[in-house]
Amino acid sequence: MTERADMLNIRRSMIKKLHGLRRKWKDDFYDSIKDVARHPVVLRMKLYPHHGNTNCYQHCMNVAYYNYLWCRFFHLDAESAARAGMLHDLFLYDWHTHAARTGDKFHGLTHPDVSFRNASRLYKLNKVEKDIIRNHMWPVTFFRFPRTKEGWVTTVTDKYCGACETSRRK
Ligand SMILES: [Fe+2]
Ligand SMILES: [Fe+2]
Repeated sequence: MTERADMLNIRRSMIKKLHGLRRKWKDDFYDSIKDVARHPVVLRMKLYPHHGNTNCYQHCMNVAYYNYLWCRFFHLDAESAARAGMLHDLFLYDWHTHAARTGDKFHGLTHPDVSFRNASRLYKLNKVEKDIIRNHMWPVTFFRFPRTKEGWVTTVTDKYCGACETSRRK
């Protein structure tokens, strides 16, 4: 009976520790992106629908959060991964009507450069951030693949978030 009570106590304290750690990582995540998340140009992404019922801003926030978790877990540059996640789709137009309006039928290939140009006007980007924004569309951009581990993480989190957002359409 005592042994069982001890096991339960250990389990309870482990769960408490995990909850504490999760809260701390969430707070640290928000600290690392808060200036980006509140920037008026970045906030404009809320105007543009992206996957399913999700707008560009929410999608970027989702990618930033998963980037932060995975990169911190693997001891990579979690802060840069989160900040670039927040900026990776800063193309600032509705891609659903973009081709009809502009004649650019290759949004999937061109938007990383548009987002990179827009993001560069707002922030001095480091090597990891540049790589994430420019190369997040691999494998669509077959010859343009990430050069950093954080960039590879983003190719996965971006697709994962996109799939979850699309499946939550209704
Ligand atoms: Fe994208
Ligand atoms: Fe994306």
